Amino acid sequence: MTNNPEKRSILLGVNIDHVATIRNARGVHYPDPLRAADVAEAFGADGITAHLREDRRHIRDSDIRELRRRVKTRLNLEMANTPEMVQTALMVRPDMVTLVPERRAEVTTEGGLNVIANRQSLAETIQRLADVGVPVSLFVDPDTTQIEASAEIGSPFIELHTGQYCEVFEETGNPEAELAILFAAAKQAKQLGMGLNAGHGLHFGNVRPILALPNLIELNIGHSLIAEAIFMGLGPAVAKMKAILAGQ
Ligand code: PXP
Repeated sequence: MTNNPEKRSILLGVNIDHVATIRNARGVHYPDPLRAADVAEAFGADGITAHLREDRRHIRDSDIRELRRRVKTRLNLEMANTPEMVQTALMVRPDMVTLVPERRAEVTTEGGLNVIANRQSLAETIQRLADVGVPVSLFVDPDTTQIEASAEIGSPFIELHTGQYCEVFEETGNPEAELAILFAAAKQAKQLGMGLNAGHGLHFGNVRPILALPNLIELNIGHSLIAEAIFMGLGPAVAKMKAILAGQ
C-alpha cells in the first residue's frame, strides 16, 4: 500500500499562508507571500494555495488580488462558505475554490466540512462558482456519508483531510488503519466520479504512503514546507517535495 505502482506524478499545491503569518507577526511588508509564490513556482509547484480567513490572520484580500495577477500556474483559494467569501471568489476568479469550515478560535483547519448539514448552501455556492467557470473542491474528512453527500450536491472535487493520519503517524508511527480509511475514501470518490485532492499536516517524512491513494490528483502542503524553508530555503524545500511526489 505504500508504493505508487502507476508511477504517476502527483501535483503539488504549495500553501503560502504561513509566509504571511511571519510577515503579519511584525506588521511589516516582508516576507512577501507573492515572492514565495514566485519561488515555489520556479522550483516546480504546480499551483499556489492561499487561505483567506475571516479574521485575515495571515493572507489578506490584497494578497489574493495580487496572487491572481501574479500566479502563472493555478491559484487555489481556500475559504469558508460565507456570502463575503463567495463574493470575493466571484470577483477574483481563482482556478479552484476549496471550501473549508472555519471556526475563529482554531489554530488551523481542524476538521472537514459538514456537507450533510450544509447541503443547500454548499450546493448553491458550487453552482454559483461553476457558472463563472470556477470548480469547487470540498475539504472533507474521509467519511463515507460526507463523501456521498459531496457527490450528491454536485461537487466536482473533494480534498481529503489527512490530519488524522498525520496525527497517528506522529504519535505511533503506525497509521495503517487511518491509511486504510483514506484509501476507502479515495476509492469511493473515484466511483462517484469526483476528482481527488488531499492535504493537511503532510511533510517529507509522512507523505509517501499518501501518494498511492487511487485517483489522487494533487496534494496541498503548507506548514511543513515553510518550516523547512527556514533551514534549506523555500525553493529547495519545494523541489524536494516535488521529487517525492514524482516517486523519486
Ligand atoms: N488543505 C486545506 C484545505 C487546508 O486548510 C490546509 C491548511 O491551511 C492545508 C491543505 C495545508 O495544510 P498544512 O499547512 O498542514 O500543510
